[in-house]
Amino acid sequence: MPQVNEEQLQEILRLLAQQQQHQHVERVQTARRAAERQQAIDETPQRKYAIIVAVDDQGGFSKDEKIPWDFPQDLKWFKDRTEGHICVMGRKTYENINSRLDDKMATSVLPNRRCFVLSNTVQEYPNATIIKGILEIENHLADEDADKTIFIIGGERLYKEGLSLVDTVYVTALNSDYQCDKFFPVVYLMEHFYTQKIYRRDDSPELRFTVWKRKR
Ligand SMILES: NC(=O)c1ccc[n+]([C@@H]2O[C@H](COP(=O)([O-])OP(=O)(O)OC[C@H]3O[C@@H](n4cnc5c(N)ncnc54)[C@H](OP(=O)(O)O)[C@@H]3O)[C@@H](O)[C@H]2O)c1
Repeated sequence: MPQVNEEQLQEILRLLAQQQQHQHVERVQTARRAAERQQAIDETPQRKYAIIVAVDDQGGFSKDEKIPWDFPQDLKWFKDRTEGHICVMGRKTYENINSRLDDKMATSVLPNRRCFVLSNTVQEYPNATIIKGILEIENHLADEDADKTIFIIGGERLYKEGLSLVDTVYVTALNSDYQCDKFFPVVYLMEHFYTQKIYRRDDSPELRFTVWKRKR
C-alpha cells in the first residue's frame, strides 16, 4: 500500500470535494432544464377541436348531396356554438353552404367564422382557405386564435377522421328517418363518448340538442 503524505491527502480531499460540487451543479442544472421543458409544454396552447352535426333517427346527415330538412332552430344552435370560432369542412359541404350564400363578397362562407376547406382537387375558393389535411390548419393560426375551438362541420370522411381528435361532439338528433345516404359514425360515438347534456325546445319538439364528451 503506497504511503500518502498529508499534502497528497489534502489534494485528494480537495479533488473529491470539487467532483461532488460538479455533480451537484449538474443535478441542479438537469432538474432546472426538465422544469423549463415542462413549463414550455404546459404553456403551449392546446388546440380545442369539436364536431357539430345534425342527424336523423338513423344517424344520417345528408341525402343526394343536400341536407334533407330545414330547421331554423338548428341553424341558430349551429350559429351560437360556432360563431367567433373556426370551421373546417369537406369540399362538398363548402359548395353546399356557398351556393346558399347571399353576400358573395363576404370574407367567410359563415359570417364571423374563419373557414377552412379540405380538398385535393380545388386550389382556391372565395371566402375560405383550402387545406389538404386537417392538421394543416395549425400552420394558418396565430397566437390570438389560441382560445378558439376548431369545429369540424362535415362531411363523412372528416367526421370519421375528426372523432379521434375531439373531446366534444354537438349532435342535433331528429326524430324521423329522412332516407339519408351519408351517415355519422354513431356506433363509435356511443362507444367512446357519453351524453353530458340534452336540451329540448318547446317550439321544436322534433329536435334534441345533445352534447357528448369523450369518456376518460
Ligand atoms: N346534417 C349535417 O349536420 C351536415 C353537416 C355537414 C354537411 N352536411 C351535408 O353533407 C354533404 C356533404 O358531405 P360529404 O361527406 O358528401 O362530402 P364532404 O366531406 O363535405 O366533401 C367531400 C370532399 O371533401 C374533400 N375531403 C374530405 N375529407 C378530406 C380529407 N380528409 N382530406 C382531403 N380532402 C378531403 C374531398 O374533396 P376533393 O374531391 O376536392 O379532394 C372530398 O371529395 C352535403 O350535402 C352537406 O350539406 C350535413
